[in-house]
Amino acid sequence: MAIEIISTGRAIPPRRVTNNDLAGMIDTNDEWIRSHTGIGARHLADSGMACSDLAAEAGRQALVSAIERGAVAESTVEALALTVDVIVLGTTTQDFCGCPSTACIVQDKLGAKNAAALDISAACSGFIYGLETAAGLLGVNARRKRALVIGSELLSHFIDWNDRGVCVLFGDGAGAVLVEKTAAPSEGEGRRGLLRSILAADGSGADSLIIRRGGSRNPWQAGEVVDTPPHLEMNGRAVYNFAVKAVTGTIEALLSDQRSEDRRSEDQSSEDQRSEDAGISIDDVVRIVPHQANARIVQAAAKRLGIPEEKFYLNIEEYANTSAASIPIALDELNRSGQIRRGDLIMTVGFGSGLTFGGNLIVW
Ligand code: COA
Repeated sequence: MAIEIISTGRAIPPRRVTNNDLAGMIDTNDEWIRSHTGIGARHLADSGMACSDLAAEAGRQALVSAIERGAVAESTVEALALTVDVIVLGTTTQDFCGCPSTACIVQDKLGAKNAAALDISAACSGFIYGLETAAGLLGVNARRKRALVIGSELLSHFIDWNDRGVCVLFGDGAGAVLVEKTAAPSEGEGRRGLLRSILAADGSGADSLIIRRGGSRNPWQAGEVVDTPPHLEMNGRAVYNFAVKAVTGTIEALLSDQRSEDRRSEDQSSEDQRSEDAGISIDDVVRIVPHQANARIVQAAAKRLGIPEEKFYLNIEEYANTSAASIPIALDELNRSGQIRRGDLIMTVGFGSGLTFGGNLIVW
């Protein structure tokens, strides 16, 4: 049994805001933003939009693509949507404050009436966590065959647009993959699909990247008047240092598969599998698709590991940091442009609020 990605999709709001546009609003400039982050522009949703609008569109694009590529027997989006068993949505900017989940709203928008639907709250690692979650949900039940894994964010509604240290970094968007459980092998010769994932967290860093208001810790009070709506607060330097370590550590762990959690739980058969899988060389990996938070984080990790920067796919210049959406947006771009092909070994790696981090190793 293999858990394979059979199609991809994305939804990007049309409104493109350049660094120079921001420089007309706050005290910043294109040179600072580019040199400190690699960001040149971001796409921002209009005020009437919500996270589920982008998520549903990205999911729909993945369904359309599966049909157009002949990857499924169904010939209409409506019919294909009915075959989806699970919708897993990674997001940190839900339509509502967790009730209901945004995945349920997406399920309704897509007409995916037979799908279980849940949100994953792992911030920018949401897609990485979501893919592993979907694989687990498909794996434990013979009747489940297909899952939509979506990363969608509408961060612009949770940004203090007067905080130049934060607002220049983020953008809106969504990406999605349609995942199918197939009869292909997941190990050995001809193996396909999701080979393994690293999921990790360091909750002691929860304060470094946080939206403080609106939850059960700091609920709104009747009659309260605030100067700024709930917004993302960030300790940029702390996150930067954590991120470089998270990226380097995850890449090493995915290559060696030597994570202690795996060692604790493995039985003889997984021991056998590990020795077969272990020792994947970075040269075997066609592309590393990192979370697009800051090009400098990726460059620092590449340097530490001695990996050529060109192996990392970067589109941050156009989209900025779209949190859980950044990896599936990048996968869709790579897939549609033919830069990744069937059989290629792909690695994702990411980190975010929580603090969370992790990665996936996938044969495309
Ligand atoms: N435009 C111009 N100047 C800015 C600015 C902006 N948008 N934002 C900050 N500055 C200024 C600061 O005020 C500071 O000025 P000062 O020295 O006069 O006080 C100066 O630039 C340097 O600030 P500093 O915070 O030290 O910059 P930095 O080199 O650490 O870079 C980040 C800041 C945010 C780019 C960097 O810390 C980072 O990328 N952190 C990780 C963030 C991240 O990835 N978050 C999401 C995780 S999923």
